[in-house]
Amino acid sequence: MSDLFAEEARAEELRKLLQYHNHRYYVLDDPEIPDVEYDKLLRELQQIEADRPDLRTIDSPTQRVGGAALDAFEQVTHAIPMLSLDNAFDDDEFAAFDQRVKDRLSRSATVRYAAEPKLDGLAISLRYEQGVLVQAATRGDGTTGENVTANVRTIGSIPLRLSGNDYPEVLEVRGEIFMPKAGFDALNERQRAKGEKTFANPRNAAAGSLRQLDSKITATRPLAMYCYGLGEVVGHSMATSQSENMRLLANWGLPTSPELKVCKDSAECAAYFASIGERRDGLAYDIDGVVFKVDQVELQKQLGFVARAPRWAIAQKFPAQEQLTLLEAVEFQVGRTGALTPVARLKPVFVGGVTVSNATLHNMDEIERKDIRVGDTVIVRRAGDVIPEVVSAVLSDRPDDAKPIHMPEQCPVCESQVVRISGEAVARCTGGLFCQAQRKEAIKHFASRKAMDIDGLGDKIVEQLVDEQLIKDPADLFALDVATVAKLERMAEKSASNLISSLDKAKHTTLPRFLFSLGILGIGETMAMNIANTLGSLEAVQKLTLHDLVELKLSQAKAFLKYASALPKELRVPMMQPPMDLKWCSSAHIELLAEQYDSVADLLKQSPEALVNQPTISIEGLGDVLAEKLVMFFRQPHNQDVLNKLIAAGVQWPAIEKVDVSDSELSGLSFVLTGTLSQPRESYKARLLAAGAKVVGSVSKNTNYLVAGESAGSKLSKAESLGVPVLDEAAIEAMLAKSGF
Ligand code: IVH
Repeated sequence: MSDLFAEEARAEELRKLLQYHNHRYYVLDDPEIPDVEYDKLLRELQQIEADRPDLRTIDSPTQRVGGAALDAFEQVTHAIPMLSLDNAFDDDEFAAFDQRVKDRLSRSATVRYAAEPKLDGLAISLRYEQGVLVQAATRGDGTTGENVTANVRTIGSIPLRLSGNDYPEVLEVRGEIFMPKAGFDALNERQRAKGEKTFANPRNAAAGSLRQLDSKITATRPLAMYCYGLGEVVGHSMATSQSENMRLLANWGLPTSPELKVCKDSAECAAYFASIGERRDGLAYDIDGVVFKVDQVELQKQLGFVARAPRWAIAQKFPAQEQLTLLEAVEFQVGRTGALTPVARLKPVFVGGVTVSNATLHNMDEIERKDIRVGDTVIVRRAGDVIPEVVSAVLSDRPDDAKPIHMPEQCPVCESQVVRISGEAVARCTGGLFCQAQRKEAIKHFASRKAMDIDGLGDKIVEQLVDEQLIKDPADLFALDVATVAKLERMAEKSASNLISSLDKAKHTTLPRFLFSLGILGIGETMAMNIANTLGSLEAVQKLTLHDLVELKLSQAKAFLKYASALPKELRVPMMQPPMDLKWCSSAHIELLAEQYDSVADLLKQSPEALVNQPTISIEGLGDVLAEKLVMFFRQPHNQDVLNKLIAAGVQWPAIEKVDVSDSELSGLSFVLTGTLSQPRESYKARLLAAGAKVVGSVSKNTNYLVAGESAGSKLSKAESLGVPVLDEAAIEAMLAKSGF
């Protein structure tokens, strides 16, 4: 066989292989080969096609990347019109539909319904001729749509060629194109990072992405599709039911809903509707109801159509998750950390199944970006259990006297100054625990389930206790007695004594929970756990200094001295205002130096070497910023008072058993990790640290081992030139296993 034929055969083989793996990846969600392998195959095919343009076919997987931009979409007339659906807004309306269907059919007919979620995207019609995707068109007005073939080709789950060979000469399938929620969030994140416009919801994002004139842009958008029906079919008989037809489509490699179910009566339909409703938030994509279709094609034919919708199908809708209402005012709520959150006071509106009169506006940046003003008509969204939010303002409805929203300069609760640190999205009240609002939130956090887990201490009780000045800090909780608590609103002797006994019970806690319950800014559950496990006791945590934790390199010390003369005399400046504009210099560095030197003059006498600091304690995930927050927290006298009161009240935890790593073979050895490993580097790092080893960033002659994964680069060559032993994954696994880690 000549080379020319060999190339042609290989191209054909590659197309088949890629089509197969594409289907496994996008449609079955069950890839067989890693992405890099897929890319290799794709690149090989691209290369062949570049050398031999005559071998490029329109169904080639290489054609998914997007082509030249269009000026406008061409119009497409649908061979069979694309219809719409009637809606049912509750069970009664569904029952009426079911009755209408039965009234029209002969009494002997037993109607079944094919049920599946109603996807919130946009309708599309795909046309396959001889198994090859030749056209994709939007619904448009139902008769004429837009030709979006180039864009649809970029959607991974849509086959460019049907599988098998037993398919119709012409097959038109109809379905919904949508954007999965995770892809939507990631897209908006990227848009925000680029300073570009974000999308209000996945539906808009899907529509905007599909109607791009430049298919290269569509190719970057995470779109997906499920088929739900047929258009023109020529030269092949189809099945006798909707559900069977969907199975045929799936066999040809087309994506269909995994939620499709046949219901044999209206009771099963109601159960299906309820169960999808319960699972709605957990689905990977937005849906707005359930579509029920008479399953038997013969019965569909008998029922026919009215105006623009079939008589044999109905969309039963969930309560709408978005509504319009009036933004009457904006108030600022103060959280545990002092963060001020703008809260919208709305004209009450029924949305997502409940009446909503308050919704979050997130933060000032969001308000400015969306240009929301008091007096605007706004879109309010409440999805599932998520807090209601203001999505956007209807700018065309804005009254002349709409008022811009400003962050207050003083805390609305305690009147302390409000500051916003540059680079942070939030503004905070500086009142700390002097602020009633922060005090309440701090105590609620202390009592919460993942913290001290005080059963029966609800938010309302905490608020009353603080308002009536019965408690000022978390430790005061343990001084409460039944008589005092029983006097509170909605409390009785019994509930009061229950609360007192759960307070007693909560005194027996664990060190990680206790550290978490203190509500130190940025110290979450995991970090509290890491701190507790590394240090083992509260005393050790209290003794921490920045010296123990913060690194100051020689280069930083030099830069610092160069600029230090421009500093205020006093090194220690309010934490909220970093003293100068040196990128590397965090307030942790300033604090670290202020611990040792009294004034700038003192500091300027030092050599850069004297300023260098090498941390002695490494806590997984704890960087400079958190280190400073942690150390500063324990240094505040009023925090120390609260800690002492808590311990005196009997709060206690079992000692932490620290693993003794001193006799581990890895103890004290220095490792560098590089290249692609089968597990995240962080996980190897954590295990090595646990075994007492050090993990550093660059290879030097002091490095004991380099762990090199795939495609390791300069670090590997450096290790080889320095004679540092190189380990592969199997070797490091064996070493860790031997030491019991
Ligand atoms: S069946 C004859 N099934 O809802 C029309 N439609 O409100 C057959 N939709 O234009 C439509 N998910 O774009 C059907 N599982 C589903 C659907 C669905 C979403 C859309 C479709 C239609 C619109 C009607």
